Amino acid sequence: MYRRQKLRPRAFKNLPLPPGPKGLPLIGNLGDIPSSFEWLTYHRWCKEFDTDILHLSVAGTSFIILDTSEVTMDLFDKRSAIYSGKPRMPMVNELMGFDWNFSLMDYGMPTHHRRLMHQSFNNVAARQFRPYSLRSVRRLLRKILDAPDSDIMTALRRMAGETIMEITYGINSPSASEKYIDAAEEALGEMLQAGVPGAYMVDSWPFLKFIPEWVPGAAFQRKARECRKLTKKVLEAPFAEVMKQMAKGITSPCFTTMSLEKINQDLVADNICTEINIKSVAGTMYSAGTDTVICLSLISNCVLGLLSNPAALKEAQDQLDSVVKPGHLPDFEDEDSLPFITAIIKEGLRWNSIIPSVIHMLKSDDEYRGLYIPGGSIVIANTWAMLHNEEYYPDPFSFNPGRFIKDGKLDKAVRDPGHAIWGFGRRICPGRHMAFDQAWVAVASLIAVFDINKPVDASGNTIEPRYEYTAGLISKPKPFKASLTPRSKNTENLIRASNSHE
Ligand code: HEM
Repeated sequence: MYRRQKLRPRAFKNLPLPPGPKGLPLIGNLGDIPSSFEWLTYHRWCKEFDTDILHLSVAGTSFIILDTSEVTMDLFDKRSAIYSGKPRMPMVNELMGFDWNFSLMDYGMPTHHRRLMHQSFNNVAARQFRPYSLRSVRRLLRKILDAPDSDIMTALRRMAGETIMEITYGINSPSASEKYIDAAEEALGEMLQAGVPGAYMVDSWPFLKFIPEWVPGAAFQRKARECRKLTKKVLEAPFAEVMKQMAKGITSPCFTTMSLEKINQDLVADNICTEINIKSVAGTMYSAGTDTVICLSLISNCVLGLLSNPAALKEAQDQLDSVVKPGHLPDFEDEDSLPFITAIIKEGLRWNSIIPSVIHMLKSDDEYRGLYIPGGSIVIANTWAMLHNEEYYPDPFSFNPGRFIKDGKLDKAVRDPGHAIWGFGRRICPGRHMAFDQAWVAVASLIAVFDINKPVDASGNTIEPRYEYTAGLISKPKPFKASLTPRSKNTENLIRASNSHE
């Protein structure tokens, strides 16, 4: 993945590297890094070495682990000019064919793409897409009402996927979006596994990418070839569909059509809004937004958390009942009056950190607190550790939205999980406003109309959910069951009425 590091320059000659476990000759700590839940091991090592900045050597490349918000802010935010790169990742980018995805590009390259996305998704512009989130949430409520025994995670996955397809490509038929979401999930599932630092030798020794597929030990080439087909489909197929619809004059407003129309109407004053950039940004958004449906991870975290804390559910329902007008479902206008719902989303972002570690690459040699940080290092911010730091979040493993509330309002003194969960500096998540909106309205609506309980088996025994999560670059709850029942006949009628135009 990784740029081979040069000898230590004279200016840094006498500075020590950050502390860390000793590795073996040549491969260094390659064999020490576990293939899953590596953030737990990073945190343990930091405790053992009594440091919040740790050094590992992986086949000649330095890995720097940042274990607290303080050190991460100092480097990723204050020194973002040199800490905003992304590792080369030959397996994912060059062999699997994700090189159009700007979330994986080294810094510099993606500035055009980021600006293009920012135009439509900054905190004000993102509001234009709120009706799409509302519509898909209302469809979700109806689905749960009609099939109470169906799998909640499947229903949430559909809802989150449909929203991103409509926002990105204007594709608003659930069956049409389903096939694209399936393709993206398959490709991204491979990418998320392959993107874990140390997952493939070719990342450490890029010359291996020239080894033919038939050579023993080159199974990664076959995997890459299969994935390349999928990756191409993810980029091309939905975009081609939009172009076809535009030619017929039957498109809905969405990121792709709005951006393409700017070109058609000659409204483009820079070289940012080009067809190729629009296609790549749309592909990145659709895959980042789908990302084995990242908003699903957040919403299902909240549902799972509420199962563990029924008092929080009751408090949220009481607040909803006192704020939302009778005969209505919660809407974005209610957000300021519903701090407890906002607190649930914050806790869902914190409790099981969906993205437990954020990976950047350091461009040039640096010195920090008298330590030498080699240019070309893979720098990994351990967001999981930051969001479970007892100093800021007492009893960090409990799902407790109340920690964000004081005197009935959001407590500004409590550190917002947003300081870590959306990433850092110049690479901070450009989809965060849209993602927060979608999760907020989904959770508010689910809680307003359903009681959420642990299910019971045929003998009447409560089935305890498994509080277990997937590993990889994204960590989401493993499938669990929850019983969602309408709170009253009125809420049932409300759900039906809100879908009556469909
Ligand atoms: C709960 C939901 C989400 C979370 C927790 C999340 C978190 C993150 C994180 C941690 C990063 C890496 C930032 C860094 O490297 O410092 C990121 C990047 C990114 N996210 Fe999100 N994200 C979410 C939803 C979305 C959605 C819905 C979209 C698309 C509409 C999106 C688009 C992107 C893109 C394009 C990047 C790459 C930015 C770059 O590399 O410059 N994200 N996100």
